[in-house]
Amino acid sequence: MASQTQHQLLVMRTHDEAARQEYYMDIRRHLARNVAGGNRVVYTNVVRPSFVKTHGRDPESRAEVRSVMTKDPYYQMYSAMQRHTQEMTWDSVIDSVERELPGLNQKARQLAAAAKGSLTLTPDFQVPPYLTFYDIHLQPGGYHANLSADDVSVGALYDRATYLYAMGNLGGKSDYLGLSLIEHFKKRFPHVTPKRILDMGCTTGNSTVPWKEAFPEAEVYGIDVGESVLRYAHARSESMGVAVHYSQQNAEATNFPDGFFDVVVSHIIMHETSTPAVGRIFKESKRLLRDGGVMLHMDNPRLKELPPFDAFLAEWEVYNNNERFGGTYREMDIVSEAEKSGFAKGKATLEIVPMIAPPSVTNYTTKGFGFPCLVGEK
Ligand SMILES: C[S@@+](CC[C@H](N)C(=O)[O-])C[C@H]1O[C@@H](n2cnc3c(N)ncnc32)[C@H](O)[C@@H]1O
Repeated sequence: MASQTQHQLLVMRTHDEAARQEYYMDIRRHLARNVAGGNRVVYTNVVRPSFVKTHGRDPESRAEVRSVMTKDPYYQMYSAMQRHTQEMTWDSVIDSVERELPGLNQKARQLAAAAKGSLTLTPDFQVPPYLTFYDIHLQPGGYHANLSADDVSVGALYDRATYLYAMGNLGGKSDYLGLSLIEHFKKRFPHVTPKRILDMGCTTGNSTVPWKEAFPEAEVYGIDVGESVLRYAHARSESMGVAVHYSQQNAEATNFPDGFFDVVVSHIIMHETSTPAVGRIFKESKRLLRDGGVMLHMDNPRLKELPPFDAFLAEWEVYNNNERFGGTYREMDIVSEAEKSGFAKGKATLEIVPMIAPPSVTNYTTKGFGFPCLVGEK
């Protein structure tokens, strides 16, 4: 598997740090390849038969599967190891970021000084409580931490650690989500040539950069709530020679004018928000689109359509990785929600975006792997 593509902002690792980081990624791969599958074996041979004996029927929901599987020692061992590798992945990258931080901050300042894109931060910005309530996916400090007036530590930590977390499945530049959605957009809307594109919840710009590369004539904008991640995203994009306009904004209510964008997208942000926020973000997306414009919100696989046991495994992150809203979002009727937010009936659809390179290793089934995406046409 190819390694992560080095760019000017990606934190450097000493030999020992690199070994420790890759060790945790390899343990994650080992769990996914060789251990996760054992959960199905114990479910089929032990846990399910015992449930049937007691209840006279199969478990009917993922909650019922959860109530019995979480008592099983094999699952407990698997789950504890998953959680441990998640904690240790962040921990292993923090060492490198702490050491390199003064140099990274300086590099980001230099790149920003010669930028072709832009960065607009908002003093006293109010981060929505669903992002500050806990550290999402156990990232220490969450997305919104900020250590100084020129801090890029949160972005530096996220960029390296999420590559390890994804076990390399998102590519060397962690851009496969963006590239996959672009492919889907081009196929679905060949007649739309975007002049302005907005990426909501851009974090470090991993998916924003490919939109600009795919549509070099377009102005591309990225928004997020985190000051440090935005500084990092801006410098990272500039280091790649890609001009993006980043700003600190809440996707529920931005300061862009009505009808400003041809395309509004997001990549895996919705499951980290809240029920009221989802409707507000759809409504805001509609406001921001010109007539004939397109909204694409892509997120993790839905839970509703999965058999109870698969849904139980797929929601591991909900209970063990501080992604509590992930279960709710993946069950919401988001097409109806989009219609309630102003999209005309028949103009909002749920579509599957195939990955340009399906994951080579996962904890779940990869059969027909793709990301569900809410598509809305104004
Ligand atoms: C999983 S990350 C998204 C990853 C990124 N889109 C990518 O493709 O690499 C979720 C991001 O959404 C941001 N976010 C969540 N709610 C938001 C909101 N209401 N407004 C703006 N950004 C938000 C978080 O701060 C975080 O950076």
